[in-house]
Amino acid sequence: MTHFLDVHKTDPAALRVILDQAQAMKDARAGKPKGMLDAEQPLAGHMVALIFEKPSTRTRISFDVGTRQMGGETMVLSGADMQLGHGETIADTARVLSRYVDLIMIRTFDESVLLEMAEYADVPVINGLTDRTHPCQIMADVMTFEEHRGPIKGKKVVWCGDGNNVCASFLHAAAQFQFDLTFTGPAQLDPEDEFVGLARKAGVRIDIERDAEKAVQGADLVVADTWVSMHDSQSTKERRHNMLRGYQVNDALMSHAKDDALFMHCLPAHREEEATSSVMDGPASVIFDEAENRLHAQKAIMRHCLGV
Ligand code: CP
Ligand code: NVA
Repeated sequence: MTHFLDVHKTDPAALRVILDQAQAMKDARAGKPKGMLDAEQPLAGHMVALIFEKPSTRTRISFDVGTRQMGGETMVLSGADMQLGHGETIADTARVLSRYVDLIMIRTFDESVLLEMAEYADVPVINGLTDRTHPCQIMADVMTFEEHRGPIKGKKVVWCGDGNNVCASFLHAAAQFQFDLTFTGPAQLDPEDEFVGLARKAGVRIDIERDAEKAVQGADLVVADTWVSMHDSQSTKERRHNMLRGYQVNDALMSHAKDDALFMHCLPAHREEEATSSVMDGPASVIFDEAENRLHAQKAIMRHCLGV
């Protein structure tokens, strides 16, 4: 069974094949209407279940559109509307879904739900974000960087703010694609030691730097994300904002990065909080390319999982 559960759980060679195929499929569609089917229809006859236990714009639409472009069918399901949200076990849900669909994508809270789904499903399972990681996002981000700047290997990425689920997948990608990563944020919001250790063990440089201006020096890519994730309690908002205010990505901070540094944000963004509109809409920003590349990267991830 070929699941896509995390960037570090897929072989680097396979990750590279996924990105190459994503780029080829993107190039082949250039200038075509969004609803036009791809020339190749590798998902013809395949049914894909897209399960959401948290809100989504990009993940939901890009998986749905991508499946259809490749000739497949989708069912978009909310966890709350399924028996899953009313006490049916994840294991039973996985076994039942496997009788109906060829592929499962799930966005959930606790990582254990994803892992149990993968353990009991007889079909591939894709991680569409958990509280802990967001691997599809980072595949799109690496693709986006390389489209603009060539190989990411050996480059310096700086993560500003909360060491959250997206940051975790960036650390996994650092290990697999061999780039360096500096985290800058308050100590209370450091990324998990396990993920920092994993990247360091893979031989890349991972630095923790409390001073944001020092951190971004020499950066090829500066990344921000929301200060309050979907799994964070709203009651922590004020405290988190107070801790994170000094890590806002603004023009002054970007001026310390390399002249050709890119800016990324997985979106949704809270403008003028984690990043200013001047940066988000400025020349360094590739945020909408990132959003578009979710589509292409995930199409290649689905093909990888299904072996088609
Ligand atoms: N970046 C991302 O995953 O966006 P959505 O929450 O809209 O899916
Ligand atoms: N860190 C954010 C990412 C959203 C795509 C969250 O988990 O809410």
